[in-house]
Amino acid sequence: MAQGQRIVLASRPVGEPKPSDFRAETYDVPTPGQGEVLLRTIWLSLDPYMRGRMSDAASYAQPVPVGGVMEGGTVSEVIASNNPGFAKGDIVLSRAGWQTHALSDGKGLAKIDPKLAPISTAVGVLGMPGMTAYTGLLEIGKPKTGETVVVAAASGAVGSAVGQIARIKGARALGIAGGKDKCDYVKRELGFDECLDHRDPNLAARLKDACPKGIDVYFENVGGAVFEAVFPLLNAFARIPVCGLIAHYNDTEAHQPKWAASMMRTVLTKRLTIRGFIVSDFAAMHADFLRDMSGWVRDGRVKYKEFITEGVESAPQALIGLLKGANFGKQLVRVGPEKA
Ligand SMILES: NC(=O)c1ccc[n+]([C@@H]2O[C@H](COP(=O)([O-])OP(=O)(O)OC[C@H]3O[C@@H](n4cnc5c(N)ncnc54)[C@H](OP(=O)(O)O)[C@@H]3O)[C@@H](O)[C@H]2O)c1
Repeated sequence: MAQGQRIVLASRPVGEPKPSDFRAETYDVPTPGQGEVLLRTIWLSLDPYMRGRMSDAASYAQPVPVGGVMEGGTVSEVIASNNPGFAKGDIVLSRAGWQTHALSDGKGLAKIDPKLAPISTAVGVLGMPGMTAYTGLLEIGKPKTGETVVVAAASGAVGSAVGQIARIKGARALGIAGGKDKCDYVKRELGFDECLDHRDPNLAARLKDACPKGIDVYFENVGGAVFEAVFPLLNAFARIPVCGLIAHYNDTEAHQPKWAASMMRTVLTKRLTIRGFIVSDFAAMHADFLRDMSGWVRDGRVKYKEFITEGVESAPQALIGLLKGANFGKQLVRVGPEKA
């Protein structure tokens, strides 16, 4: 019987995940039953939310059980089908997780047309991260012409799209990213108006200089020191879509903001809108997103970068790296070739 490879959660991490929190296993590739399809994973998407699934702290989603296959979105090929909705050779968006093969009853699978765009984009700029940028920015951030939009993790999957969409909407886009190479890319390749390095000890002063008219939209991806630099510069009626707080995902103690009271006073006096969201809150916007974003990608108005590691066994180290900025662009794992 053919053997597959998978990565399971070996233990719940304390702080930064370690390679020993994961375990590689081999398993018999299953045979699809009535109504089922067998999937071969081509692309596995690695995303910051996976750190949350490794923990059993209360959240909006259930954790991965210890011993369970790590969760994840995939682009997969149907290699055997007993389901009339899918044929051998179909390419589908799935949640097959960190494994080479998986069974599905077809629920939740979405066919991908390989003629429209590279299939990897279904988990990137034309998938969940792109949709997160589009919905959070347009529904909560609501940038207007001439306003200043700031986004951190600006070279990553979500942040890169946020700044480019902000520019399309006529706003000024300022990115914050880790290191010179990422900042150069964000400015020169993605066309942001400015990009600052969050490791610069003078970030707060540089941000102030770079935002002479203050900040109207802060798309929050990271929290931590970046948020503290941004907050004093927010204009009255600024909007803050709270998308992610990656600077805190490995924290071991609940974060106790010492300045919560003065922050709330500013929320009141500046009439700030701070709204957390999960991309699925805006599922009804999916058709609008795909229409706009695929058009912008086709026209070259939205560019994207992929950061690829090879083989499912590379996923643990790649996720550990993603949480501290080792990725440069959308983090993908090539689990198998596009053409088997
Ligand atoms: N709400 C939702 O539905 C939703 C959906 C998707 C993603 N998200 C969130 O969106 C954010 C970005 O996700 P992504 O998939 O686009 O990841 P990404 O930006 O491709 O990768 C994560 C990046 O975060 C940055 N980072 C890590 N620690 C940092 C720190 N302490 N300070 C500043 N930056 C730090 C690193 O970039 P640098 O090298 O630039 O520091 C790293 O490359 C995450 O917080 C994620 O949880 C939320």
